[in-house]
Amino acid sequence: MNIANIADFREAARRRLPHFLFEYIDGGSFAEVTLRRNIEDLEAVSLRQRVLRDVSDIDLSTQLFGQRLAMPVVLAPVGIAGLNARRGECQAVRAAQRAGIPFTLSTVSACSLEEVSAAATAPFWFQLYVIRDRGFMRDLLARAAAAGCSALVFTVDMAVPGTRYRDYRSGLAGAPGLGGKLRRLAQALMRPAWAWDVGVRGKPHALGNIAPLLEDRSGIDDFFAWMGENFDPAIRWSDLDFIRAEWKGPLIIKGILDPEDARQAAALGADGVVVSNHGGRQLDGALSSARALPGIVQAVGDRLTVLADGGVRSGLDVLRMLALGAKGVMLGRAWAYALSAQGEAGVTWLLAIIEAELRVAMGLTGTRCISDVDAGLIAGVSP
Ligand SMILES: Cc1cc2nc3c(=O)[nH]c(=O)nc-3n(C[C@H](O)[C@H](O)[C@H](O)COP(=O)(O)O)c2cc1C
Repeated sequence: MNIANIADFREAARRRLPHFLFEYIDGGSFAEVTLRRNIEDLEAVSLRQRVLRDVSDIDLSTQLFGQRLAMPVVLAPVGIAGLNARRGECQAVRAAQRAGIPFTLSTVSACSLEEVSAAATAPFWFQLYVIRDRGFMRDLLARAAAAGCSALVFTVDMAVPGTRYRDYRSGLAGAPGLGGKLRRLAQALMRPAWAWDVGVRGKPHALGNIAPLLEDRSGIDDFFAWMGENFDPAIRWSDLDFIRAEWKGPLIIKGILDPEDARQAAALGADGVVVSNHGGRQLDGALSSARALPGIVQAVGDRLTVLADGGVRSGLDVLRMLALGAKGVMLGRAWAYALSAQGEAGVTWLLAIIEAELRVAMGLTGTRCISDVDAGLIAGVSP
């Protein structure tokens, strides 16, 4: 299948992955209202078509947290991406760094900080969840610093996990023990290319970063059970002091959707926020990122670097998010689909597509560099 855009990658991923894994990536929480809104509200942003402005020389590069990026795009943390393709996080970090953009490693990745660091050629970002065992969190932060991570993304919208109906229907959730295992095995056997690549050649499958806590448990249901037991719903703003004290580099709070929370993040010493609803996987019915973003930029844009994610399915969407006020845009499912479909080459091709689409979108809006992008690009917003 020739891949022209992210919708094609999604379809290729659907054909390649066992059903339960595709549904895990593709799905959202509850009725998936926010998942749909993320995409629809972003698509509804009309950009102004501008002409005769000499766009022969377009520069996509930008600076985020002291780092030069080839374009204002970051690979978002995606859990268990190592199941999408063999040693998936290592493949993705290589593709991101070749494209000159940051890769964010999830706490719950298959490849550990150390394995990804060995595969990387430059610093990457690390995403942290709040785990009950603060001593282990401290160790993780020390490991991230030792691995040379250049920014910490602290995800705060997972105090309790959103229910994902698709995971129940597919047999990923709510089917513990032998019954669930057999269902997933049957689905895996229907995808022999994936089963060989990931199931056989991709071992070991234990979650790299949290392996010491999981001890000898390595099944996918062990992982979800562990998350249920160890994610800390008691997390509150004062916990940021702990993180701030332990982490010396840039601190980015991910999962902010409300201006009040953004102000709190600024007051407690964060360097940036990611406007995000976890890709519509947490509070269903919450505002889309596109709708929430302008209010947050207005509240803290002069103090914090505001990034955004949710529903970005093209380079045009990247420009829309920038026009709404983001300084950088995270891709979630887009790279998960690409990695699932074609591994490292897929992520490389995805980023080439995003780059080309962003370049065209800038050309047709008469914009020559990223610092020129603002709300004036949006039709109906300014003269
Ligand atoms: C399969 C999957 C796993 C995810 N795992 C994590 C994670 O481990 N940590 C995290 O902060 N966000 C996680 N997210 C959320 C993404 O970082 C990002 O916020 C979201 O995917 C953006 O929306 P989009 O998929 O529409 O681009 C995950 C998202 C998906 C789809």
